[in-house]
Amino acid sequence: MKTDRTRSALRDSLRVPRRRGEEIGLVPTMGALHEGHRSLIRAARRSCDVVVVTLFVNPTQFRPGEDFESYPHDEARDAELAEAEGVDLLFAPSPVEIYPQGFLTTVQVAGLTDVLCGAPGRRGAEHFRGVTTVVAKLLNIVQPDIAFFGQKDAQQAIVIRRMVRDLDFPVRIEVLPTVREPDGLAISSRNRYLTEDQRPRATALHRALRAAEDAAAGGESVDAVLAAARAELRDAGIDPEYLEARDAEDLAPAHDLNGRPVLIALAACVGRARLIDNTLIGG
Ligand code: PAJ
Repeated sequence: MKTDRTRSALRDSLRVPRRRGEEIGLVPTMGALHEGHRSLIRAARRSCDVVVVTLFVNPTQFRPGEDFESYPHDEARDAELAEAEGVDLLFAPSPVEIYPQGFLTTVQVAGLTDVLCGAPGRRGAEHFRGVTTVVAKLLNIVQPDIAFFGQKDAQQAIVIRRMVRDLDFPVRIEVLPTVREPDGLAISSRNRYLTEDQRPRATALHRALRAAEDAAAGGESVDAVLAAARAELRDAGIDPEYLEARDAEDLAPAHDLNGRPVLIALAACVGRARLIDNTLIGG
């Protein structure tokens, strides 16, 4: 496995495989690799000839006061894990390599980014503007045939799919299921912020979504489905930042569960950790 730190080095590394017509798979990450990332890497390894993993803690997607400074960082460990999974190329650029002096352009997907996590007062649309700008750059730098994302960040995946569609990026986007701890907690780099006391409470997010799934399977209304989820959170003393039912493609509020797939998405702070999780109903 090779580690490249500049755009030109990465392009050089990919020149020969690209000329040979090999399929290139991209897994963009912010490092601190865990089982969720590993499942994306494995999917890329199964379907592509060359697997590129990017490690870049993207400053522009963090809000002031968020955990950018303390975001976990251990490139040596990430490289070990990536190599063990058969990754061919790691791309670990510095911030100035991605945002050189004079950088002015942003990519923003309107509408989809000012709801759920993007609503004013939450992470905001600026968060997704940071994500789409860096992902657009990574897609242009690597020019993969397939790029892999996790359903854990459902809104992010929806926004990226739309950007790729609207701007004609020649790439296929694959979205893989959320990987969970045995007790249901969705794996996240931020779970390490949970104290021993908070860790069991955090499983309420998954229980809430299961309750929502059960209520939906029982033919309940959207309101009843959300109430079932809210009750699980309340029992655990969790007041969610949001808990909403939205159309899984355009994120419009969902009024019934009989038509298109509906995303039940929630965010909640447990101690210092801001956790998100979601489930898809129908479709
Ligand atoms: P990061 O949080 O490192 O996540 C990288 C990818 O792993 C994302 O596609 C995310 O959805 C996926 N992922 C995280 N936890 C997962 C889990 N438990 N199960 C399945 N997939 C999981 O998301 C980002 O980085 C950044 O926003 C990025 C896209 C790299 C742009 O900076």
